[in-house]
Formats: sequence, structure tokens, C-alpha cells
Amino acid sequence: MSIVLEIADLKKLAQRRVPKMFFDYADSGAWTESTYRANESDFAKIKLRQRVLVDMTDRSLATTMIGQNVAMPLALSPTGLAGMQHADGEILAAQAAAEFGVPFTLSTMSICSIEDVAAATKKPFWFQLYVMKDRDFVRNLIERAKAAGCSALVLTLDLQILGQRHKDLRNGLSAPPKFTPKHIWQMMTRPQWCLGMLGTQRRTFRNIAGHAKGVSDLSSLSSWTAEQFDPKLNWDDVEWIKNLWGGPLILKGILDEEDALMAAKTGADAIIVSNHGGRQLDGAPSSISMLPRIVDTVGDKIEIHLDGGIRSGQDVLKAVALGAKGTYIGRPFLYGLGAMGKPGVAKVLEIIAREMDMTMALCGKRRITDVDASILHKD
Ligand code: GLV
Repeated sequence: MSIVLEIADLKKLAQRRVPKMFFDYADSGAWTESTYRANESDFAKIKLRQRVLVDMTDRSLATTMIGQNVAMPLALSPTGLAGMQHADGEILAAQAAAEFGVPFTLSTMSICSIEDVAAATKKPFWFQLYVMKDRDFVRNLIERAKAAGCSALVLTLDLQILGQRHKDLRNGLSAPPKFTPKHIWQMMTRPQWCLGMLGTQRRTFRNIAGHAKGVSDLSSLSSWTAEQFDPKLNWDDVEWIKNLWGGPLILKGILDEEDALMAAKTGADAIIVSNHGGRQLDGAPSSISMLPRIVDTVGDKIEIHLDGGIRSGQDVLKAVALGAKGTYIGRPFLYGLGAMGKPGVAKVLEIIAREMDMTMALCGKRRITDVDASILHKD
């Protein structure tokens, strides 16, 4: 195996190990994928200031996100179907994150359930909520997250309807996969993946299966899921969820100053500047290009996080310099997971931490908590 030095190396490995329909699911953006590409390319436009002869000893990336200690300002994003990149994927990623000292966020649309992950981890994780039309089911999910000891709820605001991802439609994506000749071929050519899947019972949406009413078999599960996202979700619902949950709340999917002001008024603990990894409104600006304006608008009212386009520790540092207290990675950890399971996720975290640490030093800073816009070139 070639030497793994950067996230792109793990992406190549994952592509070779994960069946095409699931690799493509992680790697998709909506429609033309222009926002997905902008998320990455806009980071490259930001230039760092090289500083010299500054003491670089005793460096630290440790900080807090919503008052919780983190080894670096980075969490794992909620991602659907992580358990299809690798058998028991959410459990493995949660364990790797806990060992590294960063938060793991379990998606409502995960394969491993809240209870599966809680039983396999010692530290609390975060839970991401999609608001479904079936409010009893939503209430029940919140109760389950509380019972599992989750230490934050991440409420996604930007998926009232699902963006169209061409690759998923062309691939006929489903979980568990269908057994058409095309899908069987995609799986048979990934024998290690197949072996893993044969060794686990976790092959469908286990937060939902067995919990949602009227969902008796897998075909009713997929149609239930597709129909259930609530297009009427509104700010009153945020209030309802905040009261039901009663703990730290993070609002994910803010990309506009007016929405940021509304979000700050809810009394949530943080917002995530996000366009859902370019998977929802294609044509929207990149997350990093919107960050400074949102920081200007609500930075004194609420903690601000960012996701979308982070592929290196340098990107994290740039987001922190522009005012993000924390950042998230989705695709990078899925590449690590698909490439080599838990050690792959650990590798992603190590790579990002090393890049962040070296870059911070070469910009003349020793502590992430001292990083600000002074490490960036103004023009
Ligand atoms: C779900 O969160 C998705 O983006 O597919």
C-alpha cells in the first residue's frame, strides 16, 4: 500500500474498497456540484502569513466547542449511511473520535443506532436530529438520545426536502443495497467490504427500523424515510425541540445573515455555517466565503462553527482565523472509514492535527486559542 500522507490518499483507497453506490453517496453534491467544489476551492484562495523567528515550543491545539473540551477545534459531522462505508462504521468512527478527544455526531440516518453506539463507546457523543412529520417519532428520538447520554443535539435546518444528487439516482442507492446484477457486481468487486457486512447485523437505518410506526419491512422503511422529512419545519419547531431536549443545542445549516440572526435569537448554543457539503442548494456560496459576514452579524451573540470543504488542518486553521470556534469534517472521515475502518478515521484525525499544528507554528502561533485573522494575508 502506498504511503498515506493526506486526505486525498485515503479518498483513493476508499474508492477501491467501498462499493460504488456508497462511495458515490458520500462523494456526491447536488446537481452540478458547483457548491461542493466551491467549498473546497474557496479555502485555497485564502493565503497564510509566513512568520519567522517566533518561539514555536509547547504548542497546543486544545480548545473548547460549546464549552466542551476538544483536542482540536474539529468534530465529525453527522453523515448518513456511515455504516455502509464500512461495517459498523458509526461505532468505529465514534470510538476513533473519542480516543482522539474530538466529538462524534451520530446522524438520524445512520446505520448503527443511538443505542448501538452508546453501548460501544465510553464517552458521550453528539446526536443529529432530522425533524420528521411524525412528531411522536421525533420526541422518541430525543428521549433516546437523552437516555444514551448524548452531550449535544445538532439540529439540521437545511434539509426540509432532499436535494437532488444525480449520482445517487443513477446508482439506485438504497440501504440495505438492492440485489440487482449491477449492485451485486459492485459489491462482489469489493470482497473485504462484503466480508465486513456479512459479519454484522447492522445493514439498515437502525434509528428508524423497529421504532417508527407503520414501518414493517424494508421497502416501507425506504418510502417512509423519503416521505417523512417535514417541509413545514419552522422557527417555532426549533423552540419546541430546544425545550424537549433541554441540553446543549447546535443549529446546523445556516448560510445567510438573516437566518443567523434568527438562529441567535433561539438561545441555541452554537450555529454551524453550512450548505450541507454542497448536497442541498447547488449554486449557493461556499461555507468559508460566508463565514466572515456571519461572524460580523452574530459573532457577539452565539458561538459559530463551520462545515463544508475542510480537507486539511490548514483549512481548519483558516476557518478558526476567520472566527469559527469549531469545524466539522464529513467526507474526509468517511474516506478514512471506507479505506481502513477505525484506524482510517484515526489516521484522518492525526493527519489534520499534524497539518494544523505545523501550519500554526509556521504562522508564528503556539496556541490555537491565540489564532485570529492576523495569520491571514489581507489581500
Ligand atoms: C443526508 O444528510 C445527506 O446529505 O444525504
